[in-house]
Amino acid sequence: MNTPFIFGKLAVDQNFTNRSAEIIKLKQNFISGINTILISPRRWGKSSLVKKAAMEVESEQKNIRIIYLDMFNIRTEEDFYKRLSEAVLKASAGKLEESMSFIRKFLKQWIPKITISPDAVQEMSLSLNWEEVKNKPDEILDLAESIAIEKQLKLVVCIDEFQNLSNFSDPLGFQKKIRSHWQQHQHVTYCLYGSKRHMMIEVFTRQSMPFYKFGDLIFLPKISTKDWIIFIQERFLATNKNVSEQQAERIALLAENHPYYVQQLSQLCWFRTSGELLDKDIDLAMESLVMQLSLLFQNITENLATTQVNYLKTLIDEARMLSSKEVINTYHLGSSANVSRIKAALINKEIIDDQAVGNPQIQDPVYKFWLKNHYFTR
Ligand SMILES: Nc1ncnc2c1ncn2[C@@H]1O[C@H](COP(=O)(O)OP(=O)(O)OP(=O)(O)O)[C@@H](O)[C@H]1O
Ligand SMILES: [Mg+2]
Repeated sequence: MNTPFIFGKLAVDQNFTNRSAEIIKLKQNFISGINTILISPRRWGKSSLVKKAAMEVESEQKNIRIIYLDMFNIRTEEDFYKRLSEAVLKASAGKLEESMSFIRKFLKQWIPKITISPDAVQEMSLSLNWEEVKNKPDEILDLAESIAIEKQLKLVVCIDEFQNLSNFSDPLGFQKKIRSHWQQHQHVTYCLYGSKRHMMIEVFTRQSMPFYKFGDLIFLPKISTKDWIIFIQERFLATNKNVSEQQAERIALLAENHPYYVQQLSQLCWFRTSGELLDKDIDLAMESLVMQLSLLFQNITENLATTQVNYLKTLIDEARMLSSKEVINTYHLGSSANVSRIKAALINKEIIDDQAVGNPQIQDPVYKFWLKNHYFTR
């Protein structure tokens, strides 16, 4: 029997729960041409949400096409231009001949080499003359707009892991270039999403930055406990197993409503269930999840400076006023300037996330559980 829970892949169809408000918002933005910036910590469901909203829009609106570009393995500007052109052509051109004609018409300055893989005609890759593109990427940055006008379509360009542009050699120059083009597009809408909240906020909310006020800024929340209870109970029932409301709640709470972990922990519980889930199996499932990850957590922790680990301890202990003399002395944090540095470093490593009020949060709930119940108890 297939397990009714999934994690590590995009959640779609019956694996996807709720998020109805966000879906409506995204779809409205896609249809009315409002750019969107979507931010959340890792694995909260950004990619799944965009995919879901995009698929719905595409099936409901015949004149809208979605272009996906995932920047997870894009490390240079050159690569970005190349992959962007490929993605635009792939999504907007019906046949290879049409792609070729778009290339001739809209990428006039240079002749791309086209390689076609034997099995899939649509898999086309462009090799660009980087020297020329570098000096004048205009045609590429306007390719989507040109094609949209030509084909009388609306295009939505969805760019995942957008924070990766910080790996480029001149991130600011790059942002200036793309912003100056994209803000003029009338037929193309952009949806930019990614983690590294701190960096994304800087890129999109700093007045001095090119992408300031580029679009609608959405901070994706977690999914509520109430929705998780419904989801977990339903997924168990669909496979003739039972989980009580209290048990489903406990699963969600242990995973702190973190979408990836709720699905993973639910699956571990589901494996242990023949008919009815037993309370003790929830604890065993949680323990096995922690054990699975403990080597990884050990590694992460070993790579932290001692003061950084001490800082995590203050969060686990829910210490108040982390910059106070008392806390600094008790936890050996150095000085209050040092506390700010430690915090910035942990945010940069995506281990903690800053909050509007109160202490920063440890992002990974299972890491937090491990620190609390295994590491700091030793
Ligand atoms: N709406 C949802 N309903 C149920 N499960 C979800 C939902 N959204 C996300 N998940 C769960 O969370 C996991 C991670 O989702 P997804 O990859 O979309 O997140 P992400 O924010 O894009 O992550 P990353 O930052 O790593 O790119 C999914 O594999 C799935 O298990
Ligand atoms: Mg993602």
